[in-house]
Amino acid sequence: MSDPVEHSQGMDEATAPARSRQRRLVVPELALVLLIGPSGSGKTTFARRHFGPTEVLSSDFFRALVSDDEADQTASRDAFEVLHLVAEKRLRRGRLTVIDATNTTAEARARWLALAKQNHVPALAIVFDLPLEVYLQRDATRPGRRVGEPVISRQLRQLTANRGRILREPFAHRYWLRSVEEIERAVVVRRPLCSDKRSWHGPFDIVGDVHGCFTELCDMLEALGYQVERVLGPSGEAGFRIVHPGGRRLVFIGDLVDRGPDSVSVLRLAMDAVRRAKALCVLGNHDRKLMRYLEGYEVNVAHGFEKTLQQIAGETAVFRHRVLTFLRHLSSHYVLDDGRLVVAHAGLPEEYHGRCSPTVRRIALFGVTTGRRDEQGLPERINWALSYRGRALVVYGHTPVQEAVWVNQTINIDTGCVFGHKLTALRYPELELVSVPARAAYYPAARALLTPEDLQRPLLLPATDEMMPEEVTVGAGE
Ligand code: UTP
Ligand code: MG
Repeated sequence: MSDPVEHSQGMDEATAPARSRQRRLVVPELALVLLIGPSGSGKTTFARRHFGPTEVLSSDFFRALVSDDEADQTASRDAFEVLHLVAEKRLRRGRLTVIDATNTTAEARARWLALAKQNHVPALAIVFDLPLEVYLQRDATRPGRRVGEPVISRQLRQLTANRGRILREPFAHRYWLRSVEEIERAVVVRRPLCSDKRSWHGPFDIVGDVHGCFTELCDMLEALGYQVERVLGPSGEAGFRIVHPGGRRLVFIGDLVDRGPDSVSVLRLAMDAVRRAKALCVLGNHDRKLMRYLEGYEVNVAHGFEKTLQQIAGETAVFRHRVLTFLRHLSSHYVLDDGRLVVAHAGLPEEYHGRCSPTVRRIALFGVTTGRRDEQGLPERINWALSYRGRALVVYGHTPVQEAVWVNQTINIDTGCVFGHKLTALRYPELELVSVPARAAYYPAARALLTPEDLQRPLLLPATDEMMPEEVTVGAGE
């Protein structure tokens, strides 16, 4: 599972010594954070120090809300019912939520993990794992309520028995704090989720599925006003550098590779542009297949992958490694321009925008399916765009169409270049379409390109090749 959050590039020299004394806990701006630890471990104190008052949902507070007594254990069931409801509302609204409760039992954590999953947000564990004496000493001296040794010992036994289990539970991150001193040194660093590019305002040129059509990509860049320069990389390999005099940036909609004549050059250009923040690129299902191949998985050598395989055969191990690193860091989708624009390879219904889960990734890469298969065994796909009522414009590709046409606030800009039709880009915010013709039909199309009428049907025609792999649902989170 790659990281759901962005990481800053290096460390500021001046602050390095100070930082080395810190214990940095990176927390996505949207996540469900579970504090785990026996009574007296300092969860509430920690939460107060590092999170906003409305971000923290404390079981004690909810017990008091329903019973006027935070220590009244008979109120726990009612308190958790309300706490759960509030957590659910917050996550649905995309708000960071911290659960301040002991969470030492698997059942307690399972409920929260299920809630995080339902809302497609990462779950984080912050474990307060201290010696028994610390809990007891604090319990003895804390003002107000006392929990007592038997209860604290029971909670510690639960935590001890659960250590291995917590490691196996589907947390995106676990932070284990093992001493009072380590808790003291902790700093919470908030990071946007990797799909969150709301601060990128464009202007953008969003380019449809390139599929190794490097010549047409260059034609397109010229039509859009980019200068393409040939450069030599650090080890002397050929590369391409793009620049737009108007400061415009490219957004690749995914499927850079397969079927076409020169996936390697397309990768080189895209990788350089992404590295220099001149472009963004979302992962397409074909790119994912290349990634899995480079990771050593067995993949189906078909649907144009055989061409990519030939093309990368002569490339160095360094290049392959660079490609793998590049692909691993691609997000399933991006939310751009203060949430006004969303890009995803196969499109994305609104409920998943800016979320992060294996389901979001599967839908963004492969589309929305009914769960049924057609007579050829291909997944039956829903035309999600027809019922889309979201605020953001959604730009996507994946299923080749004859013409890019708007359906509600969505547009599919994959106009089947590799099949001999054309490459299309959407200029944003102008919303102008720019197309360049294919120089050749590089690969036979298994089906005719979708017509604008097809895009008005509730079920999309079955996909031509993208069998939705089962393994995508297992551990393939962002
Ligand atoms: P907390 O009230 O923060 O613990 O600290 P907790 O984990 O949330 O406990 P429960 O589960 O709600 O019962 C317990 C006591 O320890 C002190 C606090 O002031 C409080 O009286 N404490 C906490 C410290 O003295 N030092 C710390 O670093 C943290
Ligand atoms: Mg507490």
